[in-house]
Order: sequence, then structure tokens, then C-alpha cells
Amino acid sequence: MRNHVYGDVGNGPVLVLVHGFPHDRRLWRAQVDGLRSSARVITPDLPGFGERDEVAGTMTMDAYAADLKSLIDGLGIERVVIGGLSMGGYIALAFLARFQDAVSGLILCNTRASADSAEARIGRENMVKQVMEEGVEPVVDGMVPRMLAPATRSKNPELSASVRRMMGEQRAPGIIAALRGMAVRPDRTSMLPGIQVPTLIITGSADTLILPAESEAMARAIPSSSITVIPGVAHLSNVEAPQAFNTAVRTFLGTVR
Ligand code: MLT
Repeated sequence: MRNHVYGDVGNGPVLVLVHGFPHDRRLWRAQVDGLRSSARVITPDLPGFGERDEVAGTMTMDAYAADLKSLIDGLGIERVVIGGLSMGGYIALAFLARFQDAVSGLILCNTRASADSAEARIGRENMVKQVMEEGVEPVVDGMVPRMLAPATRSKNPELSASVRRMMGEQRAPGIIAALRGMAVRPDRTSMLPGIQVPTLIITGSADTLILPAESEAMARAIPSSSITVIPGVAHLSNVEAPQAFNTAVRTFLGTVR
């Protein structure tokens, strides 16, 4: 097995939770605590993030998906429910596209199936430039306000600070490789009607990074899907509203064979 770093706790169906950008497995702390009695919760650090080794160049969503497959193969696991938040959702879709037989259920959180627009790609390259010239901190400072809803930030400054800390601890090469990988990810909208596994979509009504309308469109396109829109929360719905998030996941796991 490659140099994987991951959490692995609990009993029940295997649930692999894939963090977003620029995060690491600590994103899922409240799910590890809240879901371990309902599932075996595996929370990997993606290559270049958290405690994983550095990466260079571009990490495509397929490359991350292949890394996850090598993790579950190494653990001797055949099928998983795979869930991902934002970039983690792009990766979950890439995983399903490549390793359909290894997926028994799909959870897409605060994510989308479409590719970057031309404008978004330019934004990614500008961010790469900013990371190279100024380092990680200013980039992260610009992102934190859009991760959590304003009410969460004012009511729960400690939570806000811990998200800021986790993001600020990521390293430039991993961030750059992910930005370049997200910029070249394919549009996976056309695969949605063909998804045959039960799918849960979760988002927050106040997500301004990926609008709830995009989640609703995915829910309409995926045949056996359901959607939970958590009121008043933004991009990190699992962090901001862990109870509502975990309840939705627990109910969903009960429907997956
Ligand atoms: C994320 O949270 O993973 C990112 O906002 C996704 C993106 O930049 O497209």
C-alpha cells in the first residue's frame, strides 16, 4: 500500500468520507464521532494534504480516486459508500466513474458535477500564482469567509478558528496540484442519469461557493437520489450542522445494501 494516512473507526457499512479543498481528514471530526456507531468511517487525507507526502504537478480527480482505491484495496474492502464534500464530491464522482463495482452508495455534499467555467479556470491559475508569490495564508484568509455562514462565524468563533487553522496548515504544493487538477476536471453531468447506486445529496441553503440550485439539479438528474438542504448553513454543512448532517447520512445508510 502507498503511504496512506487515514482515520478508521466504528462498525457497520464502510463509509469513506473525502475531504474538500484545502482541507484534510479533520474536516470529518463530527462525522467520526457521530457516525461511528452506525458505520465504519474511513477518513483519508488526500495526497499532498494533512499528513500525506508532498505532491508535485497536477493531481487530477482521477489520480485522487485511484489513490482512494489503493487504500480500500489495501484494507481488503470490496465495496464502500463513498461521500465527498466539494472537491471531495468531484473525486467521489471520479471514483464512481472508474470503480463502479466498488461503490454501494454515493453521498455528494456541497458539490457539483459540472466542470470549471473558463472564468473559474483563470481564477484557479490566479490562486496558484498567489500561493507561489505570497504563500498559503493570504489565500486561506480569502476563502474562510465563504466556508462558513456569517451567523456560524459570529456565534461559534472557535469553530471558525479551527477551520481556519486546518486550512492554514495545508502546504503549497498540495494546494497548487489540487487547483490545477480541479481546473482540468471533466464535466460529469452526463453520467448523472446513469448512476445506479442510491445517492444522497446534502447542501446548505446559504452555500455561496456552490449554490444549492446546483445540488437540486443533480438531485433531479440522478434517478435514485434524495436531497437534504440544511437551512442557514454554507459550504461546510457537515461542520456547521453536524447533527442534521449526520442524521441525513444515518438514515441514508439504512437504505443502502
Ligand atoms: C472545496 O471546498 O473543495 C472547493 O471550494 C471546491 C472548488 O474550489 O471548486
